[in-house]
Amino acid sequence: MSEYLPGLAGVPATKSNISDIDGEKGILFYRGYPIEELAQHSSFEETTLLLLDGRLPTEQELQNFHQQLVANRTIKFHTRGMMKNLPPTGHPMEMLQTVVASLSMFYPGSECLTDDDACNDLNYIHNTTVKIIARIACIVAMWEHIRNGYDPVAPRDDLSYAENFLYMFTGKEPDPMLARIMDVCLILHAEHTINASTFAVLVNASTLANPYGVVAAAIGALSGPLHGGANQKVLQMLEEIGTPDKAEEYVDKRLANKEVIWGMGHREYSTKDPRATILQGLMDQFMEARGGDINPLFEVAKAVEVVCEDRLAKKGVYANVDFYSGLLYAEMGIPADQFTTIFAIARSAGWLAHWREQLADNRIFRPTQVYIGEPQRKYVTINKR
Ligand code: COA
Repeated sequence: MSEYLPGLAGVPATKSNISDIDGEKGILFYRGYPIEELAQHSSFEETTLLLLDGRLPTEQELQNFHQQLVANRTIKFHTRGMMKNLPPTGHPMEMLQTVVASLSMFYPGSECLTDDDACNDLNYIHNTTVKIIARIACIVAMWEHIRNGYDPVAPRDDLSYAENFLYMFTGKEPDPMLARIMDVCLILHAEHTINASTFAVLVNASTLANPYGVVAAAIGALSGPLHGGANQKVLQMLEEIGTPDKAEEYVDKRLANKEVIWGMGHREYSTKDPRATILQGLMDQFMEARGGDINPLFEVAKAVEVVCEDRLAKKGVYANVDFYSGLLYAEMGIPADQFTTIFAIARSAGWLAHWREQLADNRIFRPTQVYIGEPQRKYVTINKR
């Protein structure tokens, strides 16, 4: 009998060409490209094509992809109607899972996945991927208005993916610096090997389920507090601390109580998460550009990180991607309960790259188990129990 490893920790569940992590050196690659280079030079659209196709696109390919995304920004009247009927108090991740799952009824066609050559039907796979990635950001932005009792803001054709998302979300012309920061945040969250939500994609994809259901399953997995959502907790923590001079006392008290410091530590990295380093750099640039006109919580975050490095570095615990992202989102006018939906928007690129990779070499997932229940026994009729 094979050994049971809880959470499949360390068990390879697939082979993949998409991304790789060197947790000791703190390196993350998408298709062989270090995340730092992509964050510096690429856009979310280009990074998405890289993840999907395995290579950087030509200028024409990128332009075509941008146009395809723009052409798919319109949300059907019935979907909008459905959103208006959802409870405004529901969590945005619950809304997103519901609405993305419902898209399969508006865009049928996944039957082609059962054709012999379905895995080669790159047209269906690509067009569906575009439909989902283009719409997921619009749905999140629309929800912000719908849940507050307003009509959603219509998309714009002249804006990039990140700019259009911010425009539809806030209803304001996006600040160029914040739009670029959002673009980088989307790049940084687009892919991260086989985490829980990506594994959900593989399992669902392997049954040839419709891709909207596949992504909805991943959204469900991401919604759990052990996966997405730590950046919301970071913001609450920083608000609770209030001022930089209280950071040391707060951290020490939590550590003495055996409580975690939110936004610190990562199963895969024993050094600082490279995405946190990039976000910290962006935050510094942003602070410099804004001069004194800045959310005081930025200084609190810096103070917390200094104390944590002193107390936790010996355990290999450093800031992770969630430590600075929430602060930056808050600065863009995004409420904390929408942070995980932004994670889902970005990760839809990685999820769909894995969906495609799974289809290209598919075998249904059917792991085994270690049975620890009763041995065979005899049924007792109800009057004799
Ligand atoms: N704050 C304080 N201590 C932490 C810590 C944190 N955020 N993360 C890990 N540690 C400590 C553990 O208490 C443990 O200490 P011990 O050896 O004295 O018992 C040691 O570091 C090893 O941690 P472990 O729990 O084995 O790490 P893990 O790989 O199982 O957990 C996380 C990884 C992400 C679940 C964990 O670091 C965590 O809960 N972080 C906070 C939540 C968060 O930011 N999540 C987002 C991840 S992107």
